[in-house]
Amino acid sequence: MDKLKIKNRVEIEKMKQSGKAAATVLKRIGEAIAPGVSTADLERISRDTIAEVKATSSFLGYQLPEHEPYPATICTSINDVVIHGIPDESQVLEDGDIIGIDTAVSIEGYHGDNAYTFPVGDISPSAERLLKVTRNSLYDAIAEAKPGNRIGDISSKLQSGAESQGFSVLQNFSGHGIGRNLHEAPEVPCMGIAGRGLRLRAGMVLAIETMVNIGFSDVHILADGWTVATVDGSLSALFEHTVAILSDGPEILTGSELWET
Ligand code: MF3
Ligand code: CO
Repeated sequence: MDKLKIKNRVEIEKMKQSGKAAATVLKRIGEAIAPGVSTADLERISRDTIAEVKATSSFLGYQLPEHEPYPATICTSINDVVIHGIPDESQVLEDGDIIGIDTAVSIEGYHGDNAYTFPVGDISPSAERLLKVTRNSLYDAIAEAKPGNRIGDISSKLQSGAESQGFSVLQNFSGHGIGRNLHEAPEVPCMGIAGRGLRLRAGMVLAIETMVNIGFSDVHILADGWTVATVDGSLSALFEHTVAILSDGPEILTGSELWET
């Protein structure tokens, strides 16, 4: 992970643009989600929209340690898949599924990263509750992203929001700083202790993300080397915003109408 970089006013303005572009891509994909649609269809919509907003995919060709270059512009994570599902023609959405879409783009060298878990048609009450709880916990955590607080204040909100409802958060994957690199310091775990960790300062920009399972937190990686799924087969949800820490508090850079519904 690159070292921590504080952004100035000009850089934050640029990151507003990339955040807005990432939000547009996510919203457009969401509008297409329905039973019978394949995740390859969603990948095509993503590529078209990224071109339309004159951005560049941050995921395509991205190399995580010990992984092949990522082959797509979005991650499509259905039901018990937590993160990093790869779009494919054979992966067709069914009524009652939930699908996490994760997408990041850059404009003028600055990245914006966001994710949202969508219902496909009618979903079960327990899936509905998972989505609501996970999304609310993200917003409770974002409210802590202000100067003087610490990383642990964000992380503990993510953890307690999920665990107070009987769900579990992922242990080995984290949110992250973001800027000229998709992943920068600091790490922003989904679990932690309030009052602990790095102190937050104005000019930090964080991709705050939370991954919540209905069942146990254990996950395994599937044969493709990327897809992370729950071991117990329970449903998992993912939500993520890119957030700038300003002197007067957090500003979400990846907001759109999608999140207002
Ligand atoms: N959005 C993911 C994250 O921030 C990154 C996906 S890695 C990629 O952790 F390789 F798929 F791009
Ligand atoms: Co991210």
